[in-house]
Amino acid sequence: MTRTLSFINLRRSFTTLLLATAGYHYVEASLNSMMQANGKLYFGNIIDTNTMQGNEDGVLKGEFGMFTPEYSWKWNRIQPEKGKFHFNDSDAVMEWAEANGKQIRGHTLVWHQNIPDWVDAITDKEDLMKVIKDHINKAVGRYKGRVYAWDVVNEVFNEDGTFRDSVFYRVLGEDFIPLAFRTAREADPNAKLYINEYNLDYAGPKIDAMLNLVHRLQAQNVPIDAIGSQTHLTSGRVNEVPAQLKRLASTGLDIAVTELDIRIKRPVTPAKLQQQKGEYALVTKGCLEVPACVGISMWGVSDQNSWVKEALPAFGAPLMWDGNLRRKGAYGAVDGLLRKGGEGSEMAGAKVSVTRRHGGRGRHGKRRLSL
Ligand code: G3I
Repeated sequence: MTRTLSFINLRRSFTTLLLATAGYHYVEASLNSMMQANGKLYFGNIIDTNTMQGNEDGVLKGEFGMFTPEYSWKWNRIQPEKGKFHFNDSDAVMEWAEANGKQIRGHTLVWHQNIPDWVDAITDKEDLMKVIKDHINKAVGRYKGRVYAWDVVNEVFNEDGTFRDSVFYRVLGEDFIPLAFRTAREADPNAKLYINEYNLDYAGPKIDAMLNLVHRLQAQNVPIDAIGSQTHLTSGRVNEVPAQLKRLASTGLDIAVTELDIRIKRPVTPAKLQQQKGEYALVTKGCLEVPACVGISMWGVSDQNSWVKEALPAFGAPLMWDGNLRRKGAYGAVDGLLRKGGEGSEMAGAKVSVTRRHGGRGRHGKRRLSL
């Protein structure tokens, strides 16, 4: 048992002890199990070769049930040269998940980033269609029946709702999307197939374009099962998330929050962290209230290791654990909300809900979580 795991268990039993002496029956529970107690499938996070053995290992195993590979399942890692496939790192991630009783969301098959030059250089339609099919058959086929879902296509739109420039769109137009979904379905009929995108968090041309595209795909009987809303948010611009999740769910497909973080414009202050608490609860409540929302995946554990640090240095503190792996208020807000079965507006300054020792419903008629 790793040192961090023993520290976490120590803290858990201390918390339980503290509350027990105060006559409260406090049940320490993972975010994943509480999300399931609220009728959802999972609370997830990212994993990869850099974090599997790292100091976040205890939190990852202790709190989350679904995992998205952060980079080792991407095209440039799996097929850096034409016809040469490298599965060492991706296999290691799959085996880590299976060894720890966790599930995997495969990420990602067709994306304009992390594309090797040999793919980017293709100009012939037939050639590119063959290359896409071959890559998907190999990648999806390798983990057939072992993954919960795949992000089949990722980030296809510009902010104005037009299609993003990529070798796929340049050579095949919109047709690369149905091609990718049909190929993935054949390669693994059981995996849930997602289209994944960011900045679907507020009304505008991008989410409109996503909804129109999904309607076109449904009209063509393309085997699409779900929409992934990455939900990389900026603190202060979060309030529309619940409404937009409802719009995405109006397609009749599953939806999921697939890459959650809420970055704070520097300097990071206690007041801004207080606001972030409410925003994490709002997003979580937004998913709880939409039956089609199957789960929430975070994009990292500690602020220290977030992609935001390098990619968006004007922002910081986007996650639920600080650089020393201490739970932040954001964690307490989500934990508290899930304990209350999504009820109550613990938006501002959530405290962990506890139920009195007597069984059944709690003081405020709250459902007691059977964990
Ligand atoms: O592992 C190598 C290391 O060996 C090498 O020394 C180092 C220097 O080049 O690179 C390391 O790999 C980097 C990897 O992150 C691990 O840190 C890759 O270069 C870098 O490209 C990769 O960045 C990932 C990025 O997607 C591009 O794939 C980030 O981890 C990941 O958080 C980010 O995630 C994306 C989602 O896939 C899609 N949505 C947005 C999200 C954030 O950008």
